[in-house]
Amino acid sequence: MPKSPTDRRHFIIVGVLVVIATVLMDILLKQALPLPVQASIESLTIDQLIGWHLTIIAFLFSLIVVFMLYSVVLFRRRPDDDSDGAHFEGNTALEIVWTVVPLIFVVVFTFIGIDTLSNVTRAEENERVVQLRAFQWSWAFEYPEGFIAQELVLPINERARMEMTSTDVLHSFWIPEMRVKQDIVPGITTVVRFTPIMAGEYKLRCSELCGLSHWSMLAPVRILEADEYEAWVAERTAGIAPAVAQVEEE
Ligand code: CUA
Repeated sequence: MPKSPTDRRHFIIVGVLVVIATVLMDILLKQALPLPVQASIESLTIDQLIGWHLTIIAFLFSLIVVFMLYSVVLFRRRPDDDSDGAHFEGNTALEIVWTVVPLIFVVVFTFIGIDTLSNVTRAEENERVVQLRAFQWSWAFEYPEGFIAQELVLPINERARMEMTSTDVLHSFWIPEMRVKQDIVPGITTVVRFTPIMAGEYKLRCSELCGLSHWSMLAPVRILEADEYEAWVAERTAGIAPAVAQVEEE
């Protein structure tokens, strides 16, 4: 900790440099790592959390690198100086600071993380349930209206619940634009929820290494306006009815 006016000056200069470096690194990280479009309500909260993490990462990086570079440049060995540096042993105040400050950060982020997780995974009434089956190396979607499709189609602004099973190995449900991700485990049913807020076409991908063709385990995802969704369901169920009628006739 600063003891003399010169020490204090060093700390003020480094403090200002750390703030400047943090702001620059924060901007750089967020520009260099752009996220996909925010297509679900969950993506808004999750992106906020990612943003705070990047800011903390920028700050920790700056804190270490600025202090180190400042010391390396300012306190480097002079050409004719062969003396040893001053001997230091321990600094109680500094040790308390570097223990307590990170502890506060960890506790605060734990709280925010738990709050975000419970918010993102919360159950709601009137969820649209799709039974999803994952297998090497594709997906099948069973809709509440009683048909199976090879694509995930959902209406906009309605909370969706995927009830997921695997017939072989571990897979994982991931639509980057929705941000949510959930493992699919053989023998049990896992659940993932999200509320799409942007109509469009996306891709569901498996994000768990599951064998030779893991890379190709993709399925189209379409988020439709409510009336378009109804029309799509009508089209699918119209296909089922005549088949049933035909069987009855025979
Ligand atoms: Cu299924 Cu990777």
